[in-house]
Amino acid sequence: MSWHENKRVLVGVSGAIAAYKSPALVRCLVQRGCEVRVVMTRAAEQFITPLTLQAVSGHPVCRHLLSADTESGMGHIELARWAEVIVVAPAGADCIARLAHGRADDLLAAVVLAAAGDVEVAVAPAMNRQMWESPATQRNLAELAQRGVRIIGPAAGDQACGETGPGRMTEPDDIAAELIGDAPPLLLDGVEALITAGPTWEALDPVRGLTNRSSGKMGYALARAARDFGARVTLVSGPVTLDAPNGVRRVDVGSAEEMLEAVMAEAPAADWFIGVAAVADYRPARVAAHKIAKKDARMRIELVRNPDILAAVAAMKRGPFTLGFAAETENVIAHARQKLTSKGVDVMAANQVGSGDAGDVLGGDENAVTLLHKAPRRGDVALEKTDKYRLAVQIIEHIAPLLAARRRGGGGGRGNDGTGGDRSGA
Ligand code: CTP
Repeated sequence: MSWHENKRVLVGVSGAIAAYKSPALVRCLVQRGCEVRVVMTRAAEQFITPLTLQAVSGHPVCRHLLSADTESGMGHIELARWAEVIVVAPAGADCIARLAHGRADDLLAAVVLAAAGDVEVAVAPAMNRQMWESPATQRNLAELAQRGVRIIGPAAGDQACGETGPGRMTEPDDIAAELIGDAPPLLLDGVEALITAGPTWEALDPVRGLTNRSSGKMGYALARAARDFGARVTLVSGPVTLDAPNGVRRVDVGSAEEMLEAVMAEAPAADWFIGVAAVADYRPARVAAHKIAKKDARMRIELVRNPDILAAVAAMKRGPFTLGFAAETENVIAHARQKLTSKGVDVMAANQVGSGDAGDVLGGDENAVTLLHKAPRRGDVALEKTDKYRLAVQIIEHIAPLLAARRRGGGGGRGNDGTGGDRSGA
């Protein structure tokens, strides 16, 4: 398994002192691109609060078996079907016994029991050394192992009870490494990334407006991937149905003018601006105060040009490194190259949408782009069609060295990165 796979991981927390390490485990998993939900037993709540685990996982914690969990909105069967990996950490002696016996009288045991055969289930035991060594515990573990449950640890050492021996929960980073593999390299450590995504909504009256079919998936995938590589991410988003990735700050906007205002407020602090939003080029000249009633057989709507957000950021003195997405249906590379120059950006991703063999990129889960550079010496880089998250990863792997070179060159002013710009940033 790798962090590229964005696994859905359910972390079960049972009542043991090592529960204080569970938030760190959730963070380690999130850092590896996983979407994490947490189930806690009643005993676990004696050691750690649901609020802490909600904060690090980004989702309400699931705690109740009977009555569809009102906070998380997911019952035990739904959770068992949602999860691709279930890890119980810490798994205390009682919890291990309950799982081995197939109990279903609390939410955690019921979810594990209901998990289908293709779900990977793991437990990270944590208990006093005597309890660990007891034949009953060892028999329960052997039963779980025989059913295909992975046993991670425990480690040996000083215990909370004052004794020394086996029974300490394996460290969170080691559990995450064993389940998912290494964490992604922190290529964007210390980078402030500012991303626009989704369509804009240009109101015509209180209930109608002009918009487009952008789903926001590419921008959200970039936000998620940038976060996984260690960036601090702000996502300025038009109206979409997607949830903000955990750990990403989202600023919701409607119109292009609102998007411009939000972006210009954030851009001075950003190192990297990525314009993925499908910004409406025009908006109605007038917005009616009340719903427009129909009258004649024809009607004219006067439109006025919207500001160009990407060009505005690219024109900033000492502004961020800029990456745009040129959405094209024909002459993709030529049109994108024109936009690279006219908007003055550092890199333009030429993106075929809506025709040719690109399929339905708008709203779809896959995409392909060619990266064009302002720096004359840098050749075009074609990135083949793949899912939008993987494409985002490849884009970041390509851009991160350019950002690093620019920072090494003194930071701030455009042109310190070998991309061929004017150092004055004019
Ligand atoms: N863009 C922007 N503000 C606008 C229009 C576009 O920031 N008012 C950005 C987009 O987010 C994208 C890039 O510019 O990164 C190219 O967008 P695209 O729609 O392909 O180009 P347009 O400038 O709108 O040109 P046209 O519609 O004429 O193809």
